[in-house]
Amino acid sequence: MSCNSAIIVLAIFVVILGACHAVTAARVGSMMMIRQPSSSSPPVHMFREPVHMFREAPAFRNGAECAADGGRVDIAMTLDGNYLRGTMAAVLSILQHTACPESMAFHFLTAEADDTGLAAALRASFPSLDLRVYRFDPSRVRDRISRSVRQELDQPLNYARVYLADTLPPDVRRVTYLDSDVVVVDDIRALASVDLAGHVLAAPEYCHANFSGYFTDAFWSHLALNGTFAGRRPCYFNTGVMVMDVGKWRAGGYTRRVEEWMAVQKRRRIYHLGSLPPFLLVFAGHIRAVDHRWNQHGLGGDNVEGRCRGLHPGPISLLHWSGKGKPWLRLDARRPCSVDYLWAPYDLYRYSSPVIEEW
Ligand SMILES: *[C@@H]1O[C@H](CO)[C@@H](O)[C@H](O)[C@H]1NC(C)=O
Ligand SMILES: *[C@@H]1O[C@H](CO)[C@@H](O)[C@H](O)[C@H]1NC(C)=O
Repeated sequence: MSCNSAIIVLAIFVVILGACHAVTAARVGSMMMIRQPSSSSPPVHMFREPVHMFREAPAFRNGAECAADGGRVDIAMTLDGNYLRGTMAAVLSILQHTACPESMAFHFLTAEADDTGLAAALRASFPSLDLRVYRFDPSRVRDRISRSVRQELDQPLNYARVYLADTLPPDVRRVTYLDSDVVVVDDIRALASVDLAGHVLAAPEYCHANFSGYFTDAFWSHLALNGTFAGRRPCYFNTGVMVMDVGKWRAGGYTRRVEEWMAVQKRRRIYHLGSLPPFLLVFAGHIRAVDHRWNQHGLGGDNVEGRCRGLHPGPISLLHWSGKGKPWLRLDARRPCSVDYLWAPYDLYRYSSPVIEEW
């Protein structure tokens, strides 16, 4: 390139740059007008009601193969302000991938005493969704919780799954419980209709995981406690995705049985995590195993640092960001893990653009 043409190219560049600059300046000008009155006041979106923070999802219709009546699929999740964005994405992903979205009935357990707008936000984003909200009284479990390795795991609502059978109305015979940090990429009916074969719970089982690591030496060296798993082959399972026979749970008094282990944990520390180990103590080796495709867990990374983790080989029906890292936080921080891009298409959150309109 000659020096002359280089100068011309440079000149064009400067003109383009200048034009861009003008636009930017205009933008900046209007931005200045909407700036917060004082630099110490919190960002304006903090004051927005949840109902305004999410877009409306497209309407979904049942396919021809769906039962005209009945065929209802009951799904239970928790509802919490910190996880609302995850809940929205999970619901959207379920509706998008099932042939019978109008057959889905959602049951949300929330610890909020008053209406904080969480349910209103869900109703606004999914106007025709069959959804019910139940109050889960945190005091029911607060005194039973002992500190675990991660503070988030010690939230009372994390234990709501123990009380599902006591909370849901009698017409719910079977429920599929899902954590709020999942995305379902297959027809949830395949999981929800699994043959429980007489078991109370169904979930993917991981028999190669180091099961003993979930319990302390105090447990394994205790003469009475360490025989807990005698006569069964206990395998790890993740309680973030479970199908439950609600009637069998009630009849077997399993709420009390899980609570009893929580009481043991209070007296002597027998495990490290929160709500998971008491489930393992009662159910490991006694659940109906379902295909691993239904819980690709651990995508949030470990419980301490939340480092990136890749997918395990094999087909996938459900992605689960268990662990410390959450995809919406990592995406917002512009430090996403590659698996977080699989979550992003289900995000209904309106980014900060409405902030400008609302001022
Ligand atoms: C399993 O975990 C326990 C406790 O963390 C450890 O002592 C043991 O060596 C582990 N076993 C294997 C096979 O990794
Ligand atoms: C259970 O604990 C007792 C007492 O510490 C010990 O002798 C025994 O080997 C333990 N059993 C198992 C299966 O670990």
